[in-house]
Amino acid sequence: LGNGNEELLNNTALKAIAEKYHKTVPQVILRWHLQEGFVVIPKSVTPSRIEENFNVFDFELSEDEMNTVRSLDTGKRLFFDPKDPEWEEKMLNVV
Ligand SMILES: NC(=O)c1ccc[n+]([C@@H]2O[C@H](COP(=O)([O-])OP(=O)(O)OC[C@H]3O[C@@H](n4cnc5c(N)ncnc54)[C@H](OP(=O)(O)O)[C@@H]3O)[C@@H](O)[C@H]2O)c1
Repeated sequence: LGNGNEELLNNTALKAIAEKYHKTVPQVILRWHLQEGFVVIPKSVTPSRIEENFNVFDFELSEDEMNTVRSLDTGKRLFFDPKDPEWEEKMLNVV
C-alpha cells in the first residue's frame, strides 16, 4: 500500500477499477498482488482497515485490469528505497 502513499491511494486508474467492483483502492491493490501470486503483508492499526484489507476474496480483476495496474510500475519504490540516496538522507535526518 506504499505505506499509505496518498498519490497511490488516489490514483485515477485504480479508483475506476475500485468503483466498478464496489471496492476500495487498497482492496484493488491487495487483490492485484494476490492474483499475481505475490505475498501481501498490509500493515494497519485501524480495525476497520484491517477488516477491509482481508475482504478481497469476493471479486476478480480481469486480465485487462491486471495489465492496467502493471502499467503503473515506475520502477521506483513509493516508500523507503535503500538504494536511493534521497531516501537515505531522509532516514538519517529522522534519527
Ligand atoms: N516497506 C518496507 O520497506 C518494509 C520492510 C520490512 C518490513 N516491512 C513490514 O511490512 C509490513 C507492511 O509495511 P509497509 O510499511 O510497507 O506498510 P503498508 O502496508 O504499505 O502501509 C501501511 C500504511 O497504510 C495504511 N493503511 C493500511 N490499510 C489501509 C487501507 N485499507 N486504507 C488506507 N490506508 C491503509 C496504514 O494506516 P493505519 O495503520 O493508520 O491504519 C499505514 O499508514 C509491516 O509489517 C512492515 O513492518 C516493510
